[in-house]
Parts: sequence; C-alpha cells; structure tokens
Amino acid sequence: MELTQANIENPSPAVTVAAPAASAAATPPAIPIEQGNEYLEIRRSGIHGTGGYARKDIPNGTRIIEYVGERISKEESTRRCEADNEYIFIIDENIDLDGNFPWNPARFINHSCTPNCEAEWDEGRIFINAIRDIKKGEELTFNYGYDMEDYQDHVCHCGTPACIGYILAEEYWDKVKKRPDLVKRDQAAQNDKLA
Ligand SMILES: C[S@@+](CC[C@H](N)C(=O)[O-])C[C@H]1O[C@@H](n2cnc3c(N)ncnc32)[C@H](O)[C@@H]1O
Ligand SMILES: [Zn+2]
Repeated sequence: MELTQANIENPSPAVTVAAPAASAAATPPAIPIEQGNEYLEIRRSGIHGTGGYARKDIPNGTRIIEYVGERISKEESTRRCEADNEYIFIIDENIDLDGNFPWNPARFINHSCTPNCEAEWDEGRIFINAIRDIKKGEELTFNYGYDMEDYQDHVCHCGTPACIGYILAEEYWDKVKKRPDLVKRDQAAQNDKLA
C-alpha cells in the first residue's frame, strides 16, 4: 500500500533522485540527518516500530521536513511494494517516491486517525507540515490516505479516541464505521501473521 496525497492538482515532470545535495564545502548538520532535524526526533514509537517526535514546540503551519527519496516508475514501485517496501509515496500518475533511505528520517512518521501533521504536495515534492500547535515530545503523525484496497490488512494502532480501526483516508471512514468486533478479529489475524 502506498502513501498518498489526496489533492494532487498539478503534477510535475519526473526527475530522478531527491537525495540531499552533497557538497565538500558544506558543514555537517548539527543533527545527523538520520536522526531528524531541528523539529523532528526519531525514536521508538507507542504506535508502531520507530516513530517521529517533536524535538521542541512546533507552531501550527510549520513545514517540519521534506519526505525525500528515489523517484521511480509505477512499474518499479509495484515491484518494491510487492517486496514489502512500506515507504513509497505517490507523487503523480507516472512517478512514485521511495523514501526507504537513511537520509529520509521523515519515513518514520506514523499514521494517525487524528493527526497533528499533514503531507503537502508541492510541485512534485512532499512536505510534512504541522496542522496545529504541537508540544515538544508529542509523536508526529499524518493520515497516510490509504484507499480501501485490502484495508483489513492495515489495522490502525494510533490509539486516539476517533480511531476508525484501520489506516484509511478520511473519505472512506463512512464505509468502515468502527466495529470493535471486526477490528479485534483483524488485529488477531495480524498478530498471528507476525508471530
Ligand atoms: C512509513 S512506515 C512508518 C515507520 C514505521 N513505524 C517503522 O518503524 O518503520 C509505515 C508503516 O508503519 C506502520 N504504521 C504506521 N502507522 C501505523 C498505525 N497507526 N497503526 C499501525 N501501524 C502503523 C505500518 O506497518 C506501515 O506500513
Ligand atoms: Zn487510528
């Protein structure tokens, strides 16, 4: 399943790689890139695996970090998704972005049904922005915007009161009203798979 941004209005032409530029003259960043940036801190998450946290108070509207990676064709994206790559973002109808690289700490930001961030599509680039004031130490989250395909396989552990039970774009929530019995069943199936 690929991360999506619902409101893609003006897709840009493809470029090859959105890795950070290497420069011999550049001074190393104060925070090593794998560990985040001035706003983002990477550590173990209560939601899933590793997550992204607010390193300091973040005002609403702040552009926290760019989601960077390798720009790949849809064919290559399908191949990598089938190989269980969970870090692929849809850029437009031709290009996806594989963010599974150490220099993309944004890849650790988990999904929530009540997120404090959103993914912004800006001329073919993806940015993670705060959508409310965020306190230092809060886990950063955005809605992954997944569609209904195999949604039962994507049980949500965000733990927020409004959790719909699955990782899903809000437009599909009416179709999957929270059913604790179904969520429990799907959760158990997922745990069996992981065991
Ligand atoms: C882009 S990664 C996020 C980083 C991930 N926590 C890690 O340690 O690599 C996306 C994957 O994290 C997991 N994930 C993210 N948000 C989740 C949530 N709210 N509930 C359950 N799993 C979640 C899912 O397995 C998803 O495919
Ligand atoms: Zn949830």
